[in-house]
Amino acid sequence: MAHAPQNPNSSLIAEPSHALAGRLRVPGDKSISHRALIFGALAVGETRITGLLEGEDVLATAEIMRQLGAEATRTGEGAWSVRGVGVGALREPAEALDFGNSGTGARLIMGLVAGHPITATFIGDASLSRRPMGRVIAPLTQMGAIFHAREGGRMPLTLTGARHTMPITYESPVASAQVKSAILLAGLNAPGVTTVIEKVPTRDHTELMLRAFGAKVETESREDGAVAIHLTGQPELSPCPIVVPGDPSSAAFPVVAALIVPGSEITVEGITLNPHRAGLYTTLIEMGGDIEIMNQREEGGEPVADLRVRASELRGIEVPPERAASMIDEYPVLAIAAAFASGNTIMRGIHELRVKESDRIAATAAGLRVNGVKVHETEDSMTVEGRSGHVEGGGLVATHMDHRIAMSFIVLGLAAQRPVTIDDASMIATSFPDFAGLMRGLGATLAGQGQ
Ligand code: S3P
Repeated sequence: MAHAPQNPNSSLIAEPSHALAGRLRVPGDKSISHRALIFGALAVGETRITGLLEGEDVLATAEIMRQLGAEATRTGEGAWSVRGVGVGALREPAEALDFGNSGTGARLIMGLVAGHPITATFIGDASLSRRPMGRVIAPLTQMGAIFHAREGGRMPLTLTGARHTMPITYESPVASAQVKSAILLAGLNAPGVTTVIEKVPTRDHTELMLRAFGAKVETESREDGAVAIHLTGQPELSPCPIVVPGDPSSAAFPVVAALIVPGSEITVEGITLNPHRAGLYTTLIEMGGDIEIMNQREEGGEPVADLRVRASELRGIEVPPERAASMIDEYPVLAIAAAFASGNTIMRGIHELRVKESDRIAATAAGLRVNGVKVHETEDSMTVEGRSGHVEGGGLVATHMDHRIAMSFIVLGLAAQRPVTIDDASMIATSFPDFAGLMRGLGATLAGQGQ
């Protein structure tokens, strides 16, 4: 059902657009950007970063690294210098750490603080304050940290790190790179080996970057598909230049837009196709998407490529549930592609979507319905009935403080029959500050106050 815009000053309208065309670079990868600042703060000396995502989530992490005693200075566009203090030498912050909308920042830095004998209070916006922190509180408590959280393990919370951090072996009950990374960050200041076992492997940027900074991290693949990650604690981390590649999760929006707006052809340059992040692209190609992977290379330890994308007639498919971890942030925009496909697209094994910046199954389903698309949802699945290129549109979409819901429905509006309004575009700045500008540069028609 339609509802009144939350904030009329930040609504945004996507109108049916002519073919999209051109080349673009999307901002730096969000996961890698957070980690570059955090590991830079732990290395002794200066870490230089280029291509850093300057979105609100990452800027919050930069500010928090300063509060914890590191120097983080912007030296140019996307260029940053971080002077770290060394593992174990962070200082107690004088004020609460404000993570805004960022679950990644909050959970990773809980791990970092848990491994230091300091106390910090973690605060964030209404969306972050609803998200479950018990998944990191449990292992970090085993490592010796003490938490005082709101009921249900929610923020705001106060954390006192361990005086003597205990190395643990932890089998994570959730497929989460944030949980894995929090434990490894705490394990950095523990004597001995900290081990995280993942039944389903998740993004490995923490492991790759820790190795680049000189830590000993071993990944052992098991026969049942699980992986065990072993970190040897108390390394001396040495600064390492970091080149942040383009974010495949941000590129997903112009890519899907080009697939569904008839006649489009665009090229997105320089995104990482780390196998733990590329599931959406495999899926879109299986749906019949004309996506050419070009100029494959390695940059800063990550596989990088350019993508040429042409408008395509998509077919609905069943997405293999074991692929979920490699495209966990991309289901909302996949659902938009699915709405334009012929036949049903079935997405299973996606219960984690219910605890992202919003309940993304509910928010995506509601947004599709107000635009004339039928959706069936269960606790951990969503099926979209494709409309073979003819989506009515005309809806007002509630974005629930979720940047990816906002961008997904802007993409839908570009290819629908009637304009689509999102109630609040302000959250887009958390991960993709110039989204509207870049989309307009490709020929998208966007109107309204937000961006
Ligand atoms: C991230 C891990 C994922 C992802 C998030 C970024 C990371 O979260 O959804 O956007 O950088 O480690 P989970 O660990 O909760 O799956």
